[in-house]
Amino acid sequence: MAWNDWIRTVEVEPSLYAADFAHLGEQVEILMHAGVKIFHFDTGDGHFVEPITIGPIVLESISQAIHAAGGVIDCHLMTEHPEKHFAAFAKAGGDSVTVHYEACEDLPAVAQAARAQKLQFGLAFKPETSASSAAHAAISSGANILLCMSIEPGYSGQEFMPEALDRIRTARAILPPEVHIQVDGGIGPDNIRGVREAGASLFVAGSSIFAHEDLPQAYRRLVQELG
Ligand code: DX5
Ligand code: ZN
Repeated sequence: MAWNDWIRTVEVEPSLYAADFAHLGEQVEILMHAGVKIFHFDTGDGHFVEPITIGPIVLESISQAIHAAGGVIDCHLMTEHPEKHFAAFAKAGGDSVTVHYEACEDLPAVAQAARAQKLQFGLAFKPETSASSAAHAAISSGANILLCMSIEPGYSGQEFMPEALDRIRTARAILPPEVHIQVDGGIGPDNIRGVREAGASLFVAGSSIFAHEDLPQAYRRLVQELG
């Protein structure tokens, strides 16, 4: 099934940034067996965000197995000049690219570059960026997803910023129904329901899954909260 079909559903997306990289393939397989359909893949370039994280080479090592099982990979590019990397992400098996509003001077051109690679397109915004400006930019660039960061982008394991709820509500009130809101940062069983009620439908979860011994149980716990 194509990404387009998943984008419209309510899903918990494990963030592979928080995985145990010595066992990456195994952990992906375990989570797919538990019902995961979308994996979130974080690339940080050491400029837009402090850390250098993972990139197309790692993506390529898991994308075939994920696609073969009917899954998709949503790539979050925490980088300057994200468009420079789109061809490499497409080739490595990425299904979508989400770029940062703060990193793009010519957003329509960046969106067009993603479409040229047949990638779905998302727009992310940081906590200090105006939710209403980001939502309008998502509309004018034809984004499929607006990613509301509920932490300062860069690292897994940070605490959820509760003020994200208001930013999600603001964005939801502006966006047409076909643009879906994703939330990333500090999502766990205690806040996922509130985040959904605020208007998000795609939930990225790193440490609230991978910090647990039993990955399927941690994943299911989040899905249950969405009830
Ligand atoms: C960090 C990344 C997140 C990160 C989330 O900036 O964008 O996707 O892995 O991790 P948690 O869920 O632990 O906050
Ligand atoms: Zn992310």
